[in-house]
Amino acid sequence: MTSAPRVRKAVIPAAGLGTRFLPATKAMPKEMLPVVDKPAIQYVVQEAVNAGLDDVLMITGRNKRALEDHFDRVPVTEQLLADKGDTERLAAVQLATDLGEIHYVRQGDPKGLGHAVLRAKTHVGNEPFAVLLGDDLIDERDPLLTTMIDVQAKTGGSVIALIEVEPEKISAYGCADMSVIDGEDYVRVNQLVEKPAVADAPSNLAVIGRYVLHPSVFEVLENTPPGRGNEIQLTDALQTLATRDGEGGGVYGVVFRGRRYDTGDKLSYLKAVVTLACESEDLGADLRAWLGEYTARLPK
Ligand code: UTP
Repeated sequence: MTSAPRVRKAVIPAAGLGTRFLPATKAMPKEMLPVVDKPAIQYVVQEAVNAGLDDVLMITGRNKRALEDHFDRVPVTEQLLADKGDTERLAAVQLATDLGEIHYVRQGDPKGLGHAVLRAKTHVGNEPFAVLLGDDLIDERDPLLTTMIDVQAKTGGSVIALIEVEPEKISAYGCADMSVIDGEDYVRVNQLVEKPAVADAPSNLAVIGRYVLHPSVFEVLENTPPGRGNEIQLTDALQTLATRDGEGGGVYGVVFRGRRYDTGDKLSYLKAVVTLACESEDLGADLRAWLGEYTARLPK
């Protein structure tokens, strides 16, 4: 057991260019794309709050206005709904505002995920913190973040989330080489490789968008040169921490086997929307019936 303070703060990088979604993301961050009836970012903020992290720092870019507006009050709309007695919609509108304390900092140039995380240094200070990527949604029925926070407290290092993927798909992800620790349900990460060729991949364990990091990651990021794509890569900094001993060293992995929805590219996004809509209470039955008829009509 270490005496590390408990994680209180969540950092949500949302300053990427979202090029895979152009032109939809020309004037709007991809984190604002709706997933059924809420922007993706709201699911992510809700997940942080559910894990007890009610101090949220969002790293934003050029298009930050829509993000800030979404988590702010809309007095005219709220009054209109109140006057009409539409309490259900009023509650839905107010939910985003009441989630927690949200702070914003701009990234400036989007020079990579590592660079975005480094922008959180002043706000976070010298305590462990969570990073949640806004295009990765974790089903609230399958909690992951609380497990990662527990592993961070236990190990005093940094923690990443891993999923098993089909071996031929690993080159789309960061990949972890790991060792099992006797008697524990988390693994020790020996090495991280960003988007390896299938033949070179050390495993089929892929890194997904949840991290609980020791604050020493900031000093490492400051000394991490631009890597793949000329961007400062969080994976490179974690690789340094993985091989470091002593205070803040060590990277551990929690293997997640629950429901996850990737909204970072068009096909995965569409699958996420259809899956969640099919499961929703108000739309599910009608949508499933229609989908059944529609797919039956499609040419084989
Ligand atoms: P992605 O790798 O998906 O990049 O970032 P992207 O720019 O958003 O999307 P594409 O590849 O151009 O389509 C993963 C997460 O990191 C954030 C993104 O907003 C996203 O939530 N990010 C990425 C930053 O905040 N800053 C960056 O410089 C890069």
